[in-house]
Amino acid sequence: MTSIIKFSNGKTLEVKPDANLSESADITTCPVLFGCRTGICGTCLVLVTSGSENITKACEDELELLSIIAVDQPNARLACQFRVKGDIELEYLGK
Ligand code: FES
Repeated sequence: MTSIIKFSNGKTLEVKPDANLSESADITTCPVLFGCRTGICGTCLVLVTSGSENITKACEDELELLSIIAVDQPNARLACQFRVKGDIELEYLGK
């Protein structure tokens, strides 16, 4: 069963089970930009506005970077670091 990712700009993306967004999306289907894809640069910073239970938990390294670049955003995540387990909604915060 596939999962639906809805973006705040109105775009949607259908992904396979256990998909990583950086492996499943390209610039034509996803508003999120990716730089390092390893959790270092913060380019892929997103706010999970719905379905946070449907993505994998953040590891210590991701939490450390989020504590620096998304101080007051408890639902912020690095889109290159989580896997999608069900439907979610995202707002792209990165630049
Ligand atoms: S692309 Fe660099 S942290 Fe996700």
